[in-house]
Formats: sequence, structure tokens, C-alpha cells
Amino acid sequence: MSVYLVGAGPGDPGLITARGLELVRTCDVLIYDRLVARELVEEAPPEATLVARDELSQDEIEGLLVAHGRAGAEVVRLKGGDPFVFGRGGEEALALAEAGVPFEIVPGVSSLAAVPAAAGIPVTHRGVSSQVTLVAGHDIGALDLSRLAQTPGTLVVFMGLAQLGTLTDALIARGKPAGTPAAVVASGTLPEQQVEIAPLGEIAEAAVGLQPPALVVIGDVVGLAHRLQTPLADPAALHA
Ligand SMILES: C[S@@+](CC[C@H](N)C(=O)[O-])C[C@H]1O[C@@H](n2cnc3c(N)ncnc32)[C@H](O)[C@@H]1O
Repeated sequence: MSVYLVGAGPGDPGLITARGLELVRTCDVLIYDRLVARELVEEAPPEATLVARDELSQDEIEGLLVAHGRAGAEVVRLKGGDPFVFGRGGEEALALAEAGVPFEIVPGVSSLAAVPAAAGIPVTHRGVSSQVTLVAGHDIGALDLSRLAQTPGTLVVFMGLAQLGTLTDALIARGKPAGTPAAVVASGTLPEQQVEIAPLGEIAEAAVGLQPPALVVIGDVVGLAHRLQTPLADPAALHA
């Protein structure tokens, strides 16, 4: 095995898997994303080659993975959350497969459920929501907004902060009740986590000033947050 696509978890460095951490600690090359905790990068061996993904295009990343993999290095590609949830892990795995380079997917804790949980929001809850829909919110034109507005259950929006007002207006215009509970969780699971909760029609205004990364959660499960936001669900308290 030579290339590992590893999920780093949602932010808190303690939320990487045991297998993921072991691979980081023994790799020859570590290629890591911006959202990955610094503490995890520092776990790589001192002699390992470290590559920050920031400056590189997707093609360049894939080229590096293939080149290091072919050279027989133990390569860890460390990605925020889970590699296969809006993480382009599938693209990188395809590039490796096409090049004939052996690889393994090491799943991670996705922000999908972990970030809402850190704010006291269960994405499913018996009798409240038995369906979760995930969307990427950075390209609203690519979404089927009419269908989305009518879809029951919980809607989780990744990369949706910049266009939040456009999205909520569009959903309301297509029939989603403006009073639907909604939340924005920024820097979830980290000490600087911030949470805003408001009805759908007001959430964009409430979220002004929050910085990415942020996850948007829309649905009745958000109504449980005021009962489930215990001190233990408050990362700032955990890190204090
Ligand atoms: C490119 S996607 C990667 C998702 C990742 N693969 C996962 O499974 O969580 C990045 C988006 O995930 C969400 N996200 C990731 N980490 C987050 C965090 N700690 N707090 C809030 N949102 C987060 C944000 O919507 C962010 O824009």
C-alpha cells in the first residue's frame, strides 16, 4: 500500500481515527488541506516531506500523489472531515486507480453530523426527522431548489455561508416555511466555535459576521439545540 486518503475529522484534532493518526505518524510524505488541524500535521515524523495543499491545483495534487506513490513512498493525503464527503477524495482515488498506484481510503468523522452535534443538534431524531439531505451551497444554480424546498427532514448545507441569503430566499420563495428552525455553526468542534440559531427567514441576517468554515442546518431538529447544548457539547468548555 502506498497512498492513503485519510479523513482528519471536522476540526478538533482529537477527532481523527486511530488508524488515521497512526498513518500520519509513520508517513514519508504528508499532503494536507487548509482545514486540517495544525496539531495533526505536527504528528508527522520530522524527516517527512510536508506539502500544504493551498497553493496547488487539483491536477497538481493528483500528479504529486501519483508520483510519490509510484516512487514507493508511504503517502498520506490528509483531508478535512471525510475524504468522500465533498472532499474530492473520489477524484484523487480515480487518478490513483487510473495510474495503477495502490491506495486505501481511511474514512474520517465528517462535519456532516459532527458539527451539528457539537452545537447540540442531532441530524436525525425519532419523530422529528428521519431523512437528511446534503447539498453544496457554493453553487446555488446547480441545485434543484423547488425539490429541495419540498424535501422533508434535515437539510445540511456545506460551503453555504457566502450565499446563505440567496439560498434561504430561494427556498422560502418555493414554499419552505420561513419559520423553519435553522442554524449556522462556524468552526464547529473547535474552541472558537460559534452558533447562530434563527428561523429560516432570519438566519442569513443572524449569521452576518460568522467566518468559514460554517455548516448550515435547516429543519425541526434545530429546535432540540436549546435542550441539548450542555457544557459537554460546548467545545470551548472542553478545551478550557
Ligand atoms: C470542502 S467541504 C469538506 C467537507 C469534509 N470533507 C467533511 O466531511 O466534513 C468544506 C465545508 O465543510 C464544512 N465544514 C468543514 N469543517 C467544518 C467545521 N469545523 N465547522 C463548520 N463547518 C465545517 C463547511 O461547510 C466547509 O465549507
